Amino acid sequence: MPDAFKELNRMNCCVTGLQWGDEGKGKVVDILAEKADIVVRYGGGANAGHTVIIGDEKFALHIMPSGAVREKTACVIANGVVVDPGTLLEEITQLAQRGIDVSRRLFISENAHIVLDYHKLEDQLRESALGKNKIGTTARGIGPCYADKIGRSFALRMADLRNLTALKEKLVKIVDYKNKLFSALYGAESIDADAIFNKCKVYSAKLGPFICNTTQYLHEAMDAGKNILFEGAQGALLDLDHGTFPFVTSSNASTLGLGPGCGVPTKCVDRFIGVVKAYATRVGSGPFPTEQDNEIGNLIREKGHEYGTTTGRPRRCGWFDAVSVGYTVRLGGINEIAMMHLDTLAGMKEVKICKAYHIEGRQTTFFPGTAEDLEKAECVYETLPGWSEDLSAATRYEDLPANTRNYIAAVEKFVGCPITIVGVGPQRSQAIFRKIM
Ligand code: GDP
Ligand code: IMO
Ligand code: MG
Repeated sequence: MPDAFKELNRMNCCVTGLQWGDEGKGKVVDILAEKADIVVRYGGGANAGHTVIIGDEKFALHIMPSGAVREKTACVIANGVVVDPGTLLEEITQLAQRGIDVSRRLFISENAHIVLDYHKLEDQLRESALGKNKIGTTARGIGPCYADKIGRSFALRMADLRNLTALKEKLVKIVDYKNKLFSALYGAESIDADAIFNKCKVYSAKLGPFICNTTQYLHEAMDAGKNILFEGAQGALLDLDHGTFPFVTSSNASTLGLGPGCGVPTKCVDRFIGVVKAYATRVGSGPFPTEQDNEIGNLIREKGHEYGTTTGRPRRCGWFDAVSVGYTVRLGGINEIAMMHLDTLAGMKEVKICKAYHIEGRQTTFFPGTAEDLEKAECVYETLPGWSEDLSAATRYEDLPANTRNYIAAVEKFVGCPITIVGVGPQRSQAIFRKIM
């Protein structure tokens, strides 16, 4: 890591997505984790899919923080995460099969809520019932689990795995309620409480040793001067309160979710790094003003391998939207941007940046407050010359072609934030750290 980033040695950093997810957070977190003692996931669940590529090794992490691939980094799954214990166990096993042991460095919050089979079923039933109006969720039970958390009466937390007798009592009541609901609303078949309880016994035995008070752990770590890296999931435009509702996820996926999601005040974070792609992608339904449902979108999808890490769905692709990213920069208090996938745009004759929207005859550079208004947005583009050079071997900012640097400068101007890390390929090593004067 070059000098400009040495100061990361004594900094708590937060990495979040500034678009609709899949910006390359896993890669950026993996790189920055070199200097971190602890990496914390504070929101979302197994809807996330964070890719880390080191040489021939590819890791797709859904629940484990991306710091897990570094043997010396402690991993915290904080209270704001909805944990699918089955997926987590699979991930722990897969890491172990590749020689990565997390057994003495994984800490799971006792207050993290548990995703069980009936949440995933409910997710699918709701989506089917919505038909063409579906959200396009990942079907990982995220919305139903967070709904139970907010509703409180039918919620289960990791702490419940400590007392199996009490858990069984709660589970029988919850499953009875869910069965009545699913049968009445969707004509669904009954779920078996015993089968779920049997799985919970396994979760309790295998995950029990990791369950603890992660808030205390993090505060004691900060007192001891440890470096903490907070890893956001999804992206700010999918934020429940500030994204394109209802086409969002069920948590505060912007940096605003950090405080409630792990019990650390945001003032303890020194550096907020927002991750973007050099273009835009979205999976699932919802407005996407710069979408290119045409040859350009297809080109980006094939060149950038834009297929979901979690569901394998083809991602919708389009031009970079500086109106939406300008908004998420403000929303997240972002200090600097990491822009991935600049290599993917190579070969385009020209590249476009959306710099304003036209909505019902008015021009605006501020992101609209509702998805309904965003649907009406027509993009005003800045068109720049493209570059044909292969960027994948570039290691210094000066190595990048002039047109690539012009593109970066134009994005910085429109979003009002410096771009300090540039991605030129999926590998850990394919990132350029830029010193901003
Ligand atoms: P995340 O959810 O934000 O962690 O992102 P994903 O892992 O879901 O998707 C990002 C994809 O882009 C992954 O396949 C990464 O390996 C890949 N990737 C990350 N950075 C770059 C880059 O600079 N160039 C290219 N070509 N691929 C990248
Ligand atoms: P990472 O962390 C991209 C999207 C889904 C859907 C909406 C709601 O890998 O960036 P949900 O299952 O959360 O109820 O789905 O949110 N979505 C993501 N899109 N990357 C993600 O995570 C996502 N997590 C959820 O596609 O549109
Ligand atoms: Mg992803």
